[in-house]
Amino acid sequence: MTGTTWQGDVDQRALPGTVRDDFPFFRGAEGVGLAYLDNAATTQKPAAVLAAITDYYATANSNVGRGYYRLSMASTDRFEAARGTVARAIGAAHPDEVLFTSGTTHAVNLLAATLGRRLVGPGDRVLVTGMEHNSNLLPWRRLCEEAGAELVAVPVDADGAVRADAFADALGPRVRLAAMAHVSNVLGTVNPVREMIAEAHRHGVPVVIDGAQAVPHRPVDVRALDADFYCFSAHKVYGPMGVGVLYGRRDLLADLPPYQVGGGTVKGVSLAEPVRYLAGPPRFEAGTPDVAGAVGLAAALDYLDGLGRDAVRAHDAALVRHAVTALGQLDRVRIVGDPARDPSGIVSFVVEGIHPYDVGGHLDRHRIAARCGVHCASVFLDGLGLLGTVRLSFGVYNTVADVDRVREAVAGVEPGFWTAEHPTTRFL
Ligand SMILES: Cc1ncc(COP(=O)(O)O)c(C=O)c1O
Repeated sequence: MTGTTWQGDVDQRALPGTVRDDFPFFRGAEGVGLAYLDNAATTQKPAAVLAAITDYYATANSNVGRGYYRLSMASTDRFEAARGTVARAIGAAHPDEVLFTSGTTHAVNLLAATLGRRLVGPGDRVLVTGMEHNSNLLPWRRLCEEAGAELVAVPVDADGAVRADAFADALGPRVRLAAMAHVSNVLGTVNPVREMIAEAHRHGVPVVIDGAQAVPHRPVDVRALDADFYCFSAHKVYGPMGVGVLYGRRDLLADLPPYQVGGGTVKGVSLAEPVRYLAGPPRFEAGTPDVAGAVGLAAALDYLDGLGRDAVRAHDAALVRHAVTALGQLDRVRIVGDPARDPSGIVSFVVEGIHPYDVGGHLDRHRIAARCGVHCASVFLDGLGLLGTVRLSFGVYNTVADVDRVREAVAGVEPGFWTAEHPTTRFL
C-alpha cells in the first residue's frame, strides 16, 4: 500500500489516513501499491457502495414502477429513496427535481433535445465557455447546427478561467440558453457560476451547469446557486458507472417534452387518442432504469457525508496545494492555470520539451495512474496553446505520498517515443 503518512503542509485532520482501507480495489492485484490519480476520469468504489449494489440485487431485484406486488413496490421504494438522497445531497427542493440518467453526457443530450429544441431557432445563440468537456459542447453544437443557430464560446483568460464579466458581455437579445462547467475537468478551474447564473437570469436565459467535476470535491447546493439545471455522473463521485443525475427546477421540468419515449412514461396508450405523458421523473426515465446504480449512487453520497463534505473538500484542496508546491520545485515543469486559487482536486502540468504521453507512460511504469492528453477538451487545449497536459486528479484515498511519488518520477522523465516520433500528435 502507498503511504498513509501525512507530511508537508497538508492538514492531517481533514480525513483519516485509513480511508484507503474502505476501497477493496486497493487490496486487489491492480490496486496494491498503485497511486491512482485519475479520479476526474472515474473514482474507485468504497465497500459500502459495492455492498449496496449487491444487496439490492440479492434482496430487492424486480422492476420498478410497474408491478402490483410487494417485491416490485419494495424495489420502487429503494429507487425513490435513492432519489431522495440525491435531492438532499444537492439541496433540491423536491425529489421530483432529480432525474436519473446514464451520466452527465446523457443529461446534457436530454436537455439539448428537449429544452434546446424548444427554445433555440434560426439566428439564435447558445452560450458555452471555452473550457467545456465535449459532453457539454457537442450536444449544443449539434443543436445549433440543426436549428440554424450560433454557438458562442465565452473566452477563457490566460489562467484558463472564465470571468463573470466576459460572460455578461456575451449575453444579449439573441441568447436563448447558456451551458457551462462548474469546474473544469482539465485545470480544475472553478467558474463563478452563481454570478453567471444571476446575470443570465437578468436576461431571462436559463442555464445548464455541468457539475461532473464539482460534486466530487465541493458541497453543491442547487438552490443557493439558483441553478435551473445541474448535471453530474455517479462514477466520478465514488458511485457506479452508468448512472447520473439531471437536476431540473420543478417548474422548468414540467414544461419539457419527454426525451426518449417508451415504457414507464405513460399510464395507458390508445391508438385513437393523443399520448398523455406522466408528470415528474417518469416522463424522462423511459424503459427500465438502472435501479442498482441509483442505489449505489445514494450509498456513495452517504459515504461522502460520513466522511464529511467539508473534510473531503479540505483534503482534496490540501493535495492540490501540495502538488503545486512539489511539482513547482522541478525546473522543467510548468503548472497550467492556477489550480491552488480555489482548489478543486485537479492539477494539470506540462514538462517542457516532452510529449505528455511520454510523461504519462513514464508515470505508469512507476505505478502511477494519471491521464495525459486533451481530456476530451481539445477546444480548451487549443485555446491554451497546448498539445495536451498531464493531469493529476485526487480522491479521498490519495495521500501526500502519492504526490511525492509523482514529483520523484517526473524528476527523472526523459523524452521518449512520442516526443521523437510524433511530437505533435494528439489522440486521447
Ligand atoms: C466536466 C465533464 N463533463 C462531462 C463529462 C462526461 O461525463 P460522463 O462520461 O460520465 O457522462 C466529464 C467526464 O470526464 C467531465 O469531466
